[in-house]
Amino acid sequence: MSFVRYLFLLLLCFVGVGLAAAQDHPVNYDEAKVPAYDLPDPLVMEDGTRVETPEQWRKSRRPELLRLFEEHVYGRMPKGAAEIRAKVVNECLALGGRAVRREVDLLVSGKADGPIRLLIYSPVGVSGPAPAFLALNFMGNHSIQPDPEIMLSTQWIGNRAGHGIEDNRATEASRGKLSSRWPVERILARGYAVVTAYYGDIDPDFDDGFANGVHPALDPEGDAERKPNEWGSIGAWAWGLSRALDFLEEDELVDAERVAVLGHSRLGKTALWAGATDERFALVISNNSGCGGAALSRRCFGETVARINRVFPHWFCERFRSYDNQESRLPVDQHQLIALIAPRPVLICSAEEDRWADPLGEQLAARAAAPVFRFLDSASLVHRLRPGEHDVTDEDWTAYMDFADREM
Ligand code: GCU
Repeated sequence: MSFVRYLFLLLLCFVGVGLAAAQDHPVNYDEAKVPAYDLPDPLVMEDGTRVETPEQWRKSRRPELLRLFEEHVYGRMPKGAAEIRAKVVNECLALGGRAVRREVDLLVSGKADGPIRLLIYSPVGVSGPAPAFLALNFMGNHSIQPDPEIMLSTQWIGNRAGHGIEDNRATEASRGKLSSRWPVERILARGYAVVTAYYGDIDPDFDDGFANGVHPALDPEGDAERKPNEWGSIGAWAWGLSRALDFLEEDELVDAERVAVLGHSRLGKTALWAGATDERFALVISNNSGCGGAALSRRCFGETVARINRVFPHWFCERFRSYDNQESRLPVDQHQLIALIAPRPVLICSAEEDRWADPLGEQLAARAAAPVFRFLDSASLVHRLRPGEHDVTDEDWTAYMDFADREM
């Protein structure tokens, strides 16, 4: 073969591979086109044995499922304890004396790009430590409430035009920009504390080969090649939620045994993974979490595994990519992620118009997880569907608080 011809063939190969990689199936929003699928049974072990007792679930099946999610979906979190020092950096009465506002830096040894900063609002006048809602935020702690005293985030923030973010840095104009999703005063009035941190403090949300955030501080040294089961950003964000809970265990403002972990969208995926990996979370709420969250991957409705892996290659472990357009080969599906939280209370929230996140797929996942809750004698799994779009609304918060009042 002539050299020129060889080069030409080589080029064709590259183009072919490139096209195949870029080729997601068209987004499907038609129920009639949802493929037929069988869901793996959460109560049957990999070797085919049926789980007969709650003891067997705890000792064998739960760890097995957790390992499958680590190996195939989210990657493993570092096993050893990280060296973390907590430092209160700001503390005052706030909101007209109705709350204590405390800001705390979690300094992770070896993390070069700053601390993970917690913002805590705790209600004044409640007896004893308050139960709390713990959730990461998308734009910096100062974005959840127009409180001029909250320290402005100095981290990289995804460029959000119209939200007071300039050149990926927060400005005064971004204070309270996401407050419609955080009815802080209402939450405090119902006796709950609010605890949050900016998710980019834990791991900035872009694909940089894991050079920033907590990854370089915690990944094994000399780990030039990433292994197929190494944690991605969702794993890191969930890990950060657990470190926040470590701090709350030492803090007198919050009752660490009554902490509900919650999140919206990608942070809803994160809340579910945090609830599955850390049994100290008393209650878990996912809002519009969709693909890689509460929605069944096998339905391929709205966002798919291939599409999420292509657009957000840093969210999951590398092995998850081997299931692009091959969802039926996955050894797990997302109902089993919900089942991992049982018997603790779980609220899965969907929105009718949020088709990208497949509301029906979330409902079916909750339904397929329910046998595990029943098996463990728990009636605390609820799916909630509301009209409207992908968002967190006031009415959503009413549902969260009603659920927490009842279940936590
Ligand atoms: C994108 C992504 C979703 C994610 C959402 C969000 O739409 O495809 O998976 O949930 O962003 O986090 O806002």
